[in-house]
Amino acid sequence: MTQPRSDVRHAYISGTGFFVPEKVVTNDDLAAIMDTSDEWIQERTGIQTRRFAADGEGTTDLAIPAVEEALKSASLTVDDIDLIIFATCTPDHYLPGSGCLLQDRMGFREIGALDIRVQCSGFVYGLSIADQYIKTGVYRNILLIGAEAQSSGLDLSDEGRDVSVIFGDGAGAAIISATEEDRGILSTHLHSEGKYARELWVESPSTRNNPTISTADLEAGRHRLKMNGREVFRHAVARFPEAIVEALQANNLNMDDITLVIPHQANLRISQMVANRLGGPNDLIYSNIQKYGNTTAASIPIAMAEAISEGRIQSGDYVVLVAFGSGFTWASALIKW
Ligand code: UT7
Repeated sequence: MTQPRSDVRHAYISGTGFFVPEKVVTNDDLAAIMDTSDEWIQERTGIQTRRFAADGEGTTDLAIPAVEEALKSASLTVDDIDLIIFATCTPDHYLPGSGCLLQDRMGFREIGALDIRVQCSGFVYGLSIADQYIKTGVYRNILLIGAEAQSSGLDLSDEGRDVSVIFGDGAGAAIISATEEDRGILSTHLHSEGKYARELWVESPSTRNNPTISTADLEAGRHRLKMNGREVFRHAVARFPEAIVEALQANNLNMDDITLVIPHQANLRISQMVANRLGGPNDLIYSNIQKYGNTTAASIPIAMAEAISEGRIQSGDYVVLVAFGSGFTWASALIKW
């Protein structure tokens, strides 16, 4: 552990990277195996393609290249990192966490490796945790990952079509570093409402049952992701703008001050509705769901890395990261770049 430093005040994003698996799955590919169509998927979600991991390619395999890129862009090595935070709801194994696997495979020092769940909000929750450790001077450089290998858990039959056409695999990583400059994470706000847990969930395996998963569970598809799409949609279009406004108010800022909003890539229609509610220019809300689908905890760090590489974020810009998803959970981070 690094020594506490009283002069450290801000946490900023010093490097980003992302990786998506090679296999591109088009809407027509899905229409060939289930009762759906390119037209339906594009109209309802905006998605054109997504990536699926290959057999034998797990969450940590996707995370490693993203982390390598993030370290390179921060001009740091594994030895500079003080803590690993790994946000995923599709870990390689039930236990131990993917953070431990990553620590070993990439040769990090014997630092803490913390897996967090929180599904679609995982990256923003992770950013909030990293911010606290850095602001209080405990750590100087934290690796935060959002990575998901979801395709192996999808029901690619007609029954699962409402869920499986949306999701994809991928990984994004960011290095959160300490600075004494007037920049970085200005605020984070975290929320949850567990009464909606069953609207978007995977029921099995469950510790309520012994064994935790049975043949009957498998036959009933209780190990597959289930979603009440309309209910999730209804809450998402309310919570996204609410979380953005909360972040603005906490920092005495207006929408006009914001250069870019990077939302969790849930559905292009959700992002468009959020944009309409907030006003502001058409390109204020970043979208790349067309290419990658909904990659849950990976979607914000992938989008952030792409936005940076496209020159959409410059030094001094105010950027809002905002997420909503299973739990229900939602969260925001307002960053001065
Ligand atoms: O990241 C976590 C957060 N997740 C989200 O934010 C997702 C939120 N929800 C959504 O994005 C949307 O609810 C969906 C894209 C999942 C579904 O869109 P929708 O406009 O809410 O469709 P729906 O569920 O109301 O279904 C409309 C129709 C139904 O047919 P009938 O009953 O009208 O005959 C469905 O059976 O579309 C049918 N349908 C499909 N048709 C073709 C459902 N899935 C498909 C499909 N292809 N894949």
